[in-house]
Amino acid sequence: MIKRIGISTGGGDAPGLNAVIRAVVRAGNLYYRWEVFGIENGFDGLLQPDRLRIMTLKDVSGILPRGGTILGTINRGNPFRHTSIVDGKEVVEDITPVLIENIKTIGLDAIVCIGGDGTLSIARDLHRLGVPVVGVPKTIDNDLSETDYTFGFNTAVSTATEALDKLHTTAESHHRGMVVEVMGRNAGWIALEAGIGGGADVILIPEIPFKMDVVCRKIKQRAMMGSRFSIVVVAEGATTDSGEKVLLEKPTEKYEAERLGGIGQWVAHKINEGTGMETRTTVLGHLQRGGSPTTFDRVLATRFGVAAAGLVAEEKFGRMVCLKGSEITSVPLDEALGKPKRVDPEGQMVKAAEMLGIEFGR
Ligand code: F6P
Repeated sequence: MIKRIGISTGGGDAPGLNAVIRAVVRAGNLYYRWEVFGIENGFDGLLQPDRLRIMTLKDVSGILPRGGTILGTINRGNPFRHTSIVDGKEVVEDITPVLIENIKTIGLDAIVCIGGDGTLSIARDLHRLGVPVVGVPKTIDNDLSETDYTFGFNTAVSTATEALDKLHTTAESHHRGMVVEVMGRNAGWIALEAGIGGGADVILIPEIPFKMDVVCRKIKQRAMMGSRFSIVVVAEGATTDSGEKVLLEKPTEKYEAERLGGIGQWVAHKINEGTGMETRTTVLGHLQRGGSPTTFDRVLATRFGVAAAGLVAEEKFGRMVCLKGSEITSVPLDEALGKPKRVDPEGQMVKAAEMLGIEFGR
């Protein structure tokens, strides 16, 4: 019988996290009559019991439209490879036994973990050690294969689309090229949807290696036809057909993911060289993660939260809630992770964009 549960947010933030927290607390308090504990800063909060707090309806009042997470989050906290400084030296160790002991001491019957591939992989591994977890998929990148949408993505796409609308007017006035770099890691979903929604002329995504001469040809053709400006959306993970990619930081032993960024500037420079058109770059960066969630993300996040509470009530642990079509359902964490969902270069959406004359540089 479930009496007390915890909820945590891990990895990069995404608009809608607070909506999930609110839904779990409200359904937990009002419907199931559980005690709900907020765990601060991802799994790190389970190592410091003073980082746990009881959450009541009052604590979640007014947070639905708020970006970020009221519980805090960290990107690099993995209890299986916890880093500390001992005698001036960095020590990496598995501290999950401490974490599991703390969960027992606090008396948590279940933990709702909200995160992307990284956080949910840790949740899956904890579940294998017997921790009763339920996962909720979050990421602006929309790259989790077992859910049609993750919350946060719709807001990020709206932000990027709005930026494209604004850049259009200045690009047209100055007869310039505008390159807009968007996030998404190794998936081109944000670039593709914002590019279509914002009327881009060129969209460069990781799934379709691009040729710079094809991009330049498109921009010159447009200029010849009287459009002396062009809007190029480039996903941070886009690569050239010869495999060129721009990284901010290479993977390290401690943090396996590469940090992407800088391809926008690279592409703008090449357009300048290859077409003679004055070209500027805008990197949208973390603007895409911030701010108030769209209605779509609020509703999706809320439905995910209620469904996660339902899985806890039924004691269906080791599962992740997901959206299939218009229905919320769930899948085992084992099946949901490690196989990123990427744009199909031959899929309907890319084809439709190409039929509109959008260039992918292939
Ligand atoms: O996964 C979400 C995301 O925003 C990616 O799109 C981006 O590559 C990465 O996180 C940035 O991470 P950080 O906030 O650590 O720079």
